[in-house]
Amino acid sequence: MEKRIVVLPGDGIGKEVTKGAVEVLQAVGERFGHQFHFTYGSIGGEAIDTYGTPLPDETIQHCKDSDAVLLGAVGGPKWDTQPPHLRPERGLLKIRKELNLYANLRPTSYYDSLAENSPLKKEYIENVDLLFVRELTGGLYFGKPSERVERDGKEAVVDTLYYQKSEMERVIKLAFELAEKRDQKVTSVDKANVLESSRMWREVADEISRQFPNVELEHMLVDNAAMQLVTNPKRFDVIVTENMFGDILSDEASVLTGSLGMSASASLSEDGPSLYEPIHGSAPDIAGQNIANPLAAILSAAMMLRLSFGMQEEAKAVETAVNQVLDAGYRTKDIGRTVNNYVSTSEMINEVKAM
Ligand code: NAI
Ligand code: MG
Repeated sequence: MEKRIVVLPGDGIGKEVTKGAVEVLQAVGERFGHQFHFTYGSIGGEAIDTYGTPLPDETIQHCKDSDAVLLGAVGGPKWDTQPPHLRPERGLLKIRKELNLYANLRPTSYYDSLAENSPLKKEYIENVDLLFVRELTGGLYFGKPSERVERDGKEAVVDTLYYQKSEMERVIKLAFELAEKRDQKVTSVDKANVLESSRMWREVADEISRQFPNVELEHMLVDNAAMQLVTNPKRFDVIVTENMFGDILSDEASVLTGSLGMSASASLSEDGPSLYEPIHGSAPDIAGQNIANPLAAILSAAMMLRLSFGMQEEAKAVETAVNQVLDAGYRTKDIGRTVNNYVSTSEMINEVKAM
């Protein structure tokens, strides 16, 4: 097969880890006889410095013309004091809207060889296998108005939580479809005791669940979900929730089994190329030192192979290589609590390619 992949390295360790994902994809292409064509685009802080905007129009068009997008991470202290429209993160929000990336999938997988890195005891996390499905283009992060106001003569602020029912339907339906192929259980997370948007969310989940008689649906309030994720993570299979709840809870879930540096994600488009990225940020504290863990980016590339290109065997080969490298004892610093010899980013990349 022939595929066009746009790479958006972004800032900080984004550049270092996407390099690993590209090299692994190249190795997979050679081994399985595919032609992957990589081209590069600008996003985030480096785009602000070069083009004066966190997401240039050329980048958007370039991505729309591709088969899939691989993103590193954006942001850093250099741009933290900029006005909102000149923040790197604005580039992320915009690309989600432009590519219609409505669902963010974040699997949390268990690695026996990394269990000692978890803040939780092994018995709580052993064989945890859960999948977050986070709504990505609605809710508080996109609602208008979002501004400082004066009300009743007082300094105040407004953010808006806005959802169309159809935006809830498409992401909840996807969660059920994914659960059908997994352990047939969906936990829908909301705050229906307080929020009207959550009450609609709950109604939609009930409606959709009627189309999936084999899948069990449970509703859970977000505060309870935050607690159960650390006290009883094994009870979950697929968790579906709106944008902000999903942002927070999926970061929480990602550290259950080890490190941010192991957590991959896919942001699926309804009508165009999907985007794949590690869930971590640009990690300015370790950028440029060749010590970042590239596995989250590499595992994101595996998700690309499976979900965008339908390449099951190829995806499995990457995941198996990652497992073997971990079993063989290779560790970057973030996952190396119990070893003395860390490997660098580039050494880790080479080990995965060699498996
Ligand atoms: P972060 O994820 O960049 O880093 C949090 C901590 O985890 C740091 O100590 C970092 O060194 C460590 N870490 C993260 N990824 C790692 C990896 N692959 N290997 C080893 N250690 C790793 O989050 P933080 O520090 O809150 O944000 C830094 C910048 O990244 C900010 O500008 C933020 O806005 C941005 N950010 C961007 C995201 C994206 O592009 N999708 C997501 C999250 C944050
Ligand atoms: Mg986040």
